[in-house]
Amino acid sequence: MELLVTLDPADRVPLHAQLERALREDVRAGRLRPGARLPSTRRLAAQLGVSRGVVVEAYAQLHAEGYLATRRGSGTHVAHAAAAPAAARGDAPAPRPRYTFHPGQPDLSAFPRTAWLAATRRALHALPDQDLGYGTVRGPRVLREALAEHLGRTRGTAADPQRMLVCSGLIQGFTLAFAALRDAGATRIALEDPGWLGHRTVAAHTGLEAVPIPVDDHGMRVDLLDEARVDAVVVTPAHQSPMGAVLAPDRRAALLGWAQRTGGLIVEDDYDAEYRYDREPVGALQGLDPDHVLYAGSASKILAPALRLGWLVAPLALSRALVEHKRHADLGTPLIEQLALAEFVESGELERHLRRTRRRYRARRDALLDALARHLPGVRVQGVAAGLHAVVLLPEGTDEHALVAAAGARGIEIHGLGDQRFEPAGGPPGLILGYAAMPEPAIAAAIAELAELMPR
Ligand SMILES: Cc1ncc(COP(=O)(O)O)c(C=O)c1O
Repeated sequence: MELLVTLDPADRVPLHAQLERALREDVRAGRLRPGARLPSTRRLAAQLGVSRGVVVEAYAQLHAEGYLATRRGSGTHVAHAAAAPAAARGDAPAPRPRYTFHPGQPDLSAFPRTAWLAATRRALHALPDQDLGYGTVRGPRVLREALAEHLGRTRGTAADPQRMLVCSGLIQGFTLAFAALRDAGATRIALEDPGWLGHRTVAAHTGLEAVPIPVDDHGMRVDLLDEARVDAVVVTPAHQSPMGAVLAPDRRAALLGWAQRTGGLIVEDDYDAEYRYDREPVGALQGLDPDHVLYAGSASKILAPALRLGWLVAPLALSRALVEHKRHADLGTPLIEQLALAEFVESGELERHLRRTRRRYRARRDALLDALARHLPGVRVQGVAAGLHAVVLLPEGTDEHALVAAAGARGIEIHGLGDQRFEPAGGPPGLILGYAAMPEPAIAAAIAELAELMPR
């Protein structure tokens, strides 16, 4: 193999280092592919007009760095592990989807940058130097009080700031709560099926056995909890994730009855309850029985997932254990973001933002319903009264997986219901269409294209 390398004897960089650099760059840029054989040291030295020692030294260095490898009998070649990045190899990058029905993602372009910046500035101005040390593990009192007032007024929680803990998103919140339950002797936790994958992954991570409880048009089948023999249950009563049902009043009562009778814990995931379009929001369960319900809320849907801000309101019995787990996780969520959120809530900006985004998401939801009625009149749509996504149930026998793949190949990102089930094929095929981040014309165009892919 001839190598296109030129060395400059006048350069102050030694010849072996010049050769090393040239070969390293050739591998990185994909000009030398993994497995490519290099000339022998003798031959390359002759080609470059340098002593053999220069090439030996360069090869040895690149060998040590992992760029080159040597096989007995076949000389030196580019190591297989030294793959160039895809862009350097000239591979086509995966096409960006033209339309994204990402479930549960708010419209990130609606993030209230100006108001958030102003809230951060005010929070920093008011922050005494000594508060920049290690803070309270639970989160600053001003934020807990602001959230308690907001949640009490808008969600009907009995949110005592003393029992509240601010966490780095609900993924951390559930991790802390499940670990505290496990420490208290819990082994089995009931989860909705279909249900949010995050609950399942956190249960696995914390060593709790997840027990699936089916969901129907009225929410979780709480009548099955007794025979499930669980220590705790996670529910999304205001807007079941993903199917969209509201937990029926008799089931709410039965669920609280189960907790009071057995001493089990209800974990109420109130992830998107602020978005309800056709009637008043259903109040949180926690307000009815704060000693048996752990309330969990998040900034991910109402503001942005990148903030990584969530909050728990725990029964007294669990409250201290949560703080201990949080202490060991990170000593507390970043303070400046928490103070900015406190300002944001107290100044009324959160309410303003919610009013604005509610209007926007409602218009998008309506556009989705119109487009589905026009282009896919045979499908059943549910869960549309609230939240940021709708569920479309596909005709029996539709290959959900194939449809998701075909849509992906056309640049339409959609998600199937199968991923949310304990058994992917354990229920009718369906799609979860997150509409919050899509302008109305894009929704109409994407659904028209999707309809063309549906088996007839
Ligand atoms: C059901 C459910 N709960 C909670 C969350 C929020 O998690 P986090 O606060 O970690 O973003 C989500 C986000 O997608 C969700 O879908």
